[in-house]
Amino acid sequence: MEQNPRADARPCAAIEWVCVRRNCWRGDAFWWAMLYRMLTWLSQITPRVSLQRWVRFRLNPADAPLPDAEIRLTAVSEPVLAALRTHPDYAEEAFASGIEFWDFGVRNGFVWLEDGQPRAFQWQLSATDTMALRARSLWGNMYPPLAPSMAYQEKMWTFSSARMKGVASRFAFAMFDEARQAGITTLFAHINELNAPALSLVNKTGWKRFGTIERFDFDFPVLRNLKFTVAVHLQ
Ligand SMILES: CC(C)(COP(=O)(O)OP(=O)(O)OC[C@H]1O[C@@H](n2cnc3c(N)ncnc32)[C@H](O)[C@@H]1OP(=O)(O)O)[C@@H](O)C(=O)NCCC(=O)NCCS
Repeated sequence: MEQNPRADARPCAAIEWVCVRRNCWRGDAFWWAMLYRMLTWLSQITPRVSLQRWVRFRLNPADAPLPDAEIRLTAVSEPVLAALRTHPDYAEEAFASGIEFWDFGVRNGFVWLEDGQPRAFQWQLSATDTMALRARSLWGNMYPPLAPSMAYQEKMWTFSSARMKGVASRFAFAMFDEARQAGITTLFAHINELNAPALSLVNKTGWKRFGTIERFDFDFPVLRNLKFTVAVHLQ
């Protein structure tokens, strides 16, 4: 069923987290609501404050169907990533930026290899992985702290030769099984509101939407050099 992502951007949505660089604060204090309203207003009146929005999803992997028995996932490692860096898809910024997570200290991810060829790839970020991202990546504020029984699934990639053949859907169920076996009871994901293929995929694989992430970027002389953004996680 097609849903309108902006339906989550209602004024009464509760702020769960406000994250700037490596810092995340619980969003229940009234001044966060004031800040959020001010940033939203600024983004409406000046192009110097830009707003990007992602839809948040969660899923209990125990509720997902079992994967196809023939799918075998390979854990990401240095040699696996070295091979992926030689793949033609590495020329695409969206894929290369996902691979870069390793350089930030992220270690939990999986590749579906078939006949030696990669079909799909995804990170399954643990609490430690998200801490590493917050410390080192400009995008770290997209990943607030997690309890040990939680993980983010992030940067799914179906290799270009395998698109639109049901690969991501089958891979997703294999990833849920990995999470289940690791004792994860809540998975999170976020998808840019303009990414129609990914939104269709998460709707098809059982994820439930529960809010949005609104990320504000600033194009003012001094702030520009500080390279910081404010991510407001709403539920
Ligand atoms: C999103 C992505 C993972 C889907 O991979 P895929 O293997 O082609 O997906 P599937 O074949 O399993 O299709 C799953 C559903 O997504 C939808 N879909 C996939 N590609 C689509 C496209 N280009 N346009 C519209 N819908 C699309 C289809 O509706 C499909 O459902 P259906 O089979 O019931 O029609 C892939 O397009 C990709 O790697 N994109 C770039 C990275 C990205 O956006 N990742 C996700 C967010 S981090």
